[in-house]
Amino acid sequence: MKTGKVNFIRYPGGKQRILNYIVPFLPSRELIKGKFIEPFLGSGAVFFALNPKRALLADINPELIDLYRGIRRYPLEVWKIYKNFPKTKEAYYEIRSIKVKGRNLAFRAARILYLNRTCFKGMWRHNSKGEFNVGYGGQDRRWIINQEILKEVSNRLKPAVLRCADFEEIIDLSTEGDFIFLDPPYKPGERELLHSHYLYSKFSFSEYQRLAKVLKRASNRGVKWSMTISSHPDILDLFPQNYVFPILVGTGEKIGVLAKNSGEVLICNYKPEVWK
Ligand SMILES: C[S@@+](CC[C@H](N)C(=O)[O-])C[C@H]1O[C@@H](n2cnc3c(N)ncnc32)[C@H](O)[C@@H]1O
Repeated sequence: MKTGKVNFIRYPGGKQRILNYIVPFLPSRELIKGKFIEPFLGSGAVFFALNPKRALLADINPELIDLYRGIRRYPLEVWKIYKNFPKTKEAYYEIRSIKVKGRNLAFRAARILYLNRTCFKGMWRHNSKGEFNVGYGGQDRRWIINQEILKEVSNRLKPAVLRCADFEEIIDLSTEGDFIFLDPPYKPGERELLHSHYLYSKFSFSEYQRLAKVLKRASNRGVKWSMTISSHPDILDLFPQNYVFPILVGTGEKIGVLAKNSGEVLICNYKPEVWK
């Protein structure tokens, strides 16, 4: 079974480029006795890097979960639809405006994959009606993926359960022996993340407080977890009695630009030596 990076969607704030700073703190696939759980899935960088034997993967963004489900079940159909979408700017806006209600899963997944690979900087932004509204970015990154990559993604997803749900519901499903990796939305060094026009990126301080309570319950059940988050003192105060490691090079403020002393930390409810 292969391990290592699988890069099939673009995701601002994704952990793909800083995996080297995170993975050494996490258990390997052999050491995860129960399920690997990732409640803020995004592009799933950590899931693909660890390639666990069993997984529960979730995100609140229904289009993202459609994309994963579609590729897992119909990788070749998704590829065929994707490669036949036209390559002009006008076509991008037409495909973006398609109402997907009643369209099949392979089509929905191919459309989102196309929008993600050709929109501006791979952003995920939705208007108040939940419609994807990022502008056109170009075709340069469209052909970085191919049929083989989608087949590989499909295989890697086979042992996973995929859910579109809020983090609390997912974390509450964890039991002793499970390992949770968490990467909630955050602004490095800041207390909260508030972009009212970014439907799935709003994360006020009360959301972090709710997260802290849910994780405390999980710790009491014997679940191990690790989380990337802002280093703001008010955030760190929510997670006492845990181990905090600065992430020296992180995702930073600007999309796609890595930052030194990024204002991000990794918090673990275990000493990383336990996995040695
Ligand atoms: C920083 S991104 C995760 C990036 C991911 N780790 C990666 O490497 O690509 C945070 C994710 O949390 C999701 N999210 C936001 N609010 C949520 C909630 N209440 N419950 C579950 N997921 C949520 C967003 O849709 C987004 O995909």
